[in-house]
Amino acid sequence: MKTDMSRKKEVVLGSHGNSRGSLLVGESGREIPFLIKRFFVIKDVPSGATRGAHAHKTTSQALFCLCGSFTLITDDGVSVIEESIDSHSTGRLLLPKVWHTMKDFSKGTIALVVANKHYRESDYVRDYEGFLRLVKKGT
Ligand code: TYD
Repeated sequence: MKTDMSRKKEVVLGSHGNSRGSLLVGESGREIPFLIKRFFVIKDVPSGATRGAHAHKTTSQALFCLCGSFTLITDDGVSVIEESIDSHSTGRLLLPKVWHTMKDFSKGTIALVVANKHYRESDYVRDYEGFLRLVKKGT
């Protein structure tokens, strides 16, 4: 895993390409810096739609763009980073307490997210003011 800045953490998958195509791999403890308990796929996002717009209290995630492209906005309560995600082999680590939003999905985009926790709605912070309070509190 290559770390550029506190929030812009790249997760580089292993890549095995040859004349038969390309195989990308991520293993817990190697490319993925946590034990994977869950994955989900985001697809068929209509033009103009936004996903995310929340933070997690304790869940860590790694986000990959398997097909197409989108814009990822991450906000740690202090500063905002906006970046275009279009690499199939390099994802982003989304740590707890980072407000993240995805927008500008190109047609046919497929995103894969792996997480270190099972789904629990109570782990979400969906209101931005609540997120800022959580970041300030530090707990
Ligand atoms: P949500 O995380 O709000 O999606 P997004 O942030 O991309 O808009 O999830 C959408 C719905 O799917 C919501 O009703 C919760 C449900 N869901 C699960 O049941 N399990 C999961 O692992 C996830 C990520 C979502």
